[in-house]
Amino acid sequence: MERLQKVIANSGYTSRRKAEELIINNRVKVNGEVVNTLGFKVSSNDVITVDDEIISKNEVKEYYLLNKPREVICSVTDDKNRKTVVSLIKTKARIYPVGRLDYNTTGAIILTNDGNLANILMHPKHKIYKTYVAKINGLLNEVDFKKLRKGIIIDDRKLIIDYVKVRKIDKLKNTSLVEVTIHEGRNHIIKKLFEVLGYDVLKLTRTKFSFLTVDDLKSGEYRPISKEEVKELYNLK
Ligand code: URA
Repeated sequence: MERLQKVIANSGYTSRRKAEELIINNRVKVNGEVVNTLGFKVSSNDVITVDDEIISKNEVKEYYLLNKPREVICSVTDDKNRKTVVSLIKTKARIYPVGRLDYNTTGAIILTNDGNLANILMHPKHKIYKTYVAKINGLLNEVDFKKLRKGIIIDDRKLIIDYVKVRKIDKLKNTSLVEVTIHEGRNHIIKKLFEVLGYDVLKLTRTKFSFLTVDDLKSGEYRPISKEEVKELYNLK
């Protein structure tokens, strides 16, 4: 027996959090009866539906790596009618993004209908490394560079920075290009990080998600993640 929200998420239908919302909003039925309690347990014989559509446990798993362009939202649908990352991938599978990049952040994002893998990659305990390159206003000085190396307190919690490198200082334009590797997934974390030091992030791109880079993908391009790579991602657990 497993918790209903876990079974829905593992089917690849949606994330665990979204599955919980579906349950609370009376959209889930088990054997034809609405179930709106989160602790409810189901067995493999139970028929689960969302909006009266049967959740298939055997959906073929698909995995994509997208180089997300600017002005695209990291979700399945958008109430403001903005372009979504899911709409950029040609598939009938119910894929969704693993984590989020901001509307104007570009770079590496995984999309899949494999709830198990998505949960592994998003769980903070697995410490998945992500590398970002931020263009900031101002010239990053030695003092701030050292602060970055030591880690920065953001919203009362220290953000450990695994690696930091100044890629470029443009004295004429008064900007710096800084590469930062972290293993946390808090919202807007890189923008907050530089904000604490007094810089604005002008541009942000994620160049690497664990070992996956988007070096060979143009903006908006994507590729399937190979079986070997999927295995490697599972091994990050
Ligand atoms: N940090 C941010 O501030 N934005 C992102 O999109 C990702 C990390």
